[in-house]
Amino acid sequence: MASSGTRLTLEALSKRYGDGPPAVAAVSLDVAPGEFIGLLGPSGCGKTTTLRMIGGLTPSTSGRVMVGGRDVTTLPPHKRDMGIVFQSYALFPHMDVAANVAFGLEMRGLKRADIAGKVAQALDLVQLGALAHRRPRELSGGQQQRVALARALVIEPAILLLDEPLSNLDAKLREEMRAEIHDIQKRLGITTIFVTHDQAEALAMCDRIAVMEKGRVAQLGTPHDIYEHPASEFVADFVGRSNRIAAEAGADGVIRLGEHRVRSAAPVPAGPVTVMIRPHRVGFDGAEGDGWNICPGVVRRVTYVGDMLACEVEVGGGIVVVERPTQPGTALPAVGDGVRVSWRVSDTLVFPR
Ligand SMILES: Nc1ncnc2c1ncn2[C@@H]1O[C@H](COP(=O)(O)OP(=O)(O)OP(=O)(O)O)[C@@H](O)[C@H]1O
Ligand SMILES: [Mg+2]
Repeated sequence: MASSGTRLTLEALSKRYGDGPPAVAAVSLDVAPGEFIGLLGPSGCGKTTTLRMIGGLTPSTSGRVMVGGRDVTTLPPHKRDMGIVFQSYALFPHMDVAANVAFGLEMRGLKRADIAGKVAQALDLVQLGALAHRRPRELSGGQQQRVALARALVIEPAILLLDEPLSNLDAKLREEMRAEIHDIQKRLGITTIFVTHDQAEALAMCDRIAVMEKGRVAQLGTPHDIYEHPASEFVADFVGRSNRIAAEAGADGVIRLGEHRVRSAAPVPAGPVTVMIRPHRVGFDGAEGDGWNICPGVVRRVTYVGDMLACEVEVGGGIVVVERPTQPGTALPAVGDGVRVSWRVSDTLVFPR
C-alpha cells in the first residue's frame, strides 16, 4: 500500500445551516501532497463541518474542493477517493474485523482473492492481523480505533480524513495511537486532514495546523509558528497555557505593567494591550531572561505537583504564574515572599485589547 501523495485544495469553502450564522466561512487551504494538516479549535468552530464538506458528506453552501487539480465539489463521497475515520468509529457490530475492513472493497466490486490480500495487508499495517476474526465488541477502544483506520486505508485513498479519532481513548493509549497514526501516515505519504480540539495532539502530530475560530482560519502555520508566534490573543490562549495581563503600551513601544516597564520583540500597538507570557518561560531572579523584563512581585500561592512547581506572583496589579521544574534540595518560595520574576523580550507576546 503506497500512495504518492495528492494535493488537496479548499477554495473559500463555506457552510450555512438554514438561516443561522455561517458554520464555516470562506475556508481556503492548500494541502501539499503527503502533508498532515490539523484542524484545531474549540467546540462548535466548524471543524467537523469542514471535514464533512471535504469528504462530500455535507454539501457546501459555496466554495470548491479540489483533489489533485480535479474539482470534486459536487461528487458523492465514494467518488472522491477519500478514506474517513469518524470519532465514533462506526464499525459494523455483526461483522468481524476482516469483514469490516473488506466492506469498502466489496462495495467497489473488487475480486475476492484481491480483497483478502488487501485486508491482510491493512490489518498488518495497524497490527491487528491476529484479531481478524473478532467482533468489534470483543476489542478494546484502541483496537476498534485501529480497525476504523484500517478500513479507511484499505481502499488506498488519495486523502485521509480523521475526525477526533483518539477522543474515546484513555490518556496513555491516546499517546500510543498518536505515534502510530503519525508513523503510518508518513510511511504511506498519504495527504491527511486531522480534526482535533486537543492542542497537544495537534502540536505533536501535524506538519501544519489551521487554528479555527468561529468558522474561520484564525492562523495557519507549523506547530512552532503557532506556539511561538501566535497571530492573535485567541490563538495564544487556545494553544498552550499563558499568563495574561492587562497593560498599557506607549508610542515608544514600552509596555507599562502597573509601575513596571517591559519590552516585547514584536512591534507593539500603542494603547491598551494584553501581555501574554508562557508560565514555563518565566523564572526567578533573572534565571530566565535577557536582562530587560525583570519585575518585583509578591508570591501569592505555591502549588507543588512533583515534577513542577507553580508559583502565582502578584506583579504590577496582575498575577504571573511561574512554572519551574523541581530540583532536589531547592528551597521552595513561600507565600508572602518578595521575589523578582523575569522573562525574555522575545517571550513577551502583546496583543491590542
Ligand atoms: N446539521 C446541522 N444543522 C445545524 N447546525 C449545525 C449542524 N451541524 C453543525 N451545526 C452547527 O455548526 C457549527 C459548527 O459545528 P461543527 O460540528 O462543525 O463544530 P466542531 O468544530 O466540529 O465542534 P466539536 O469540537 O464540538 O465537534 C456549530 O455551531 C453547530 O451547532
Ligand atoms: Mg466536531
